[in-house]
Amino acid sequence: MSALLEVSGLNKSFGGLKVTRDVSLKLAAGNRVGLIGPNGAGKTTLINLITGALAPTSGTVLLMGEDVTAISAPRRVKRGLARTFQITQLAPQMAICRQVELAIHERLGSVNHLWKSMDSFKEVRDEAHDILRTLQISDLAERSAVELAYGQQRLVEIALAMALRPKVLLLDEPMAGVPSGERQVVLDALDTLPDSLAILMIEHDMDLVFGFADRILVLAEGAVLAEGTPQEIRRHPAVRTAYLGAEV
Ligand SMILES: Nc1ncnc2c1ncn2[C@@H]1O[C@H](COP(=O)(O)OP(=O)(O)OP(=O)(O)O)[C@@H](O)[C@H]1O
Ligand SMILES: [Mg+2]
Repeated sequence: MSALLEVSGLNKSFGGLKVTRDVSLKLAAGNRVGLIGPNGAGKTTLINLITGALAPTSGTVLLMGEDVTAISAPRRVKRGLARTFQITQLAPQMAICRQVELAIHERLGSVNHLWKSMDSFKEVRDEAHDILRTLQISDLAERSAVELAYGQQRLVEIALAMALRPKVLLLDEPMAGVPSGERQVVLDALDTLPDSLAILMIEHDMDLVFGFADRILVLAEGAVLAEGTPQEIRRHPAVRTAYLGAEV
């Protein structure tokens, strides 16, 4: 398997606090990987290190085989890496379709010279609507984020990430704050994403992540405690003791 994303020996310390310890992982096209671990295990920090929001103390991040450890977050996006956030980052008042269009313009690099590309307006608008249609949220196009239910907001965030045409998508708790009645909608939307996309999803809901992922990575105190299929992880003694406890 040729990895789209390959993380090797990643370490991160904040002052004396080691929050990422020698983490390695690989994501290939089509992979659905679940990243689990207790609060404070370092899951979000790992995503921040992969995207370039944080610089590692040591270790490397390869995208499509190229070392991107030293390049900026926006340039990693251009190379096919997109993420969503644990806490909603939508513009509260702007129409949803405008936000998706802006993300597409960002990808195309047309934001700074829109006057040159009037012809591309319609294409961009059409593409934005295609993305919303795929995620089955066309009806939200003209609404603003503040009007939406929480589950719908999370879908819009996935739409914004997809507007960047990623090869690798990192989802930081896409179900955080979503009431149980709206969760299936988010799961259905994740099912509509291209098979070839590599997805890493952080999620606390075990049923959900074990159903979604074909491979699970368990982080504890910044280090990889275990990696395997959902079945292997359910049976893993250290995981049961350290994390799953009475849940399994
Ligand atoms: N910028 C920072 N400066 C100092 N410490 C930080 C910083 N960011 C994170 N940490 C610490 O790193 C550890 C891991 O945090 P992180 O947010 O990655 O955990 P997490 O696994 O995503 O937890 P949760 O499940 O609660 O989202 C925590 O102890 C946190 O307090
Ligand atoms: Mg987190």
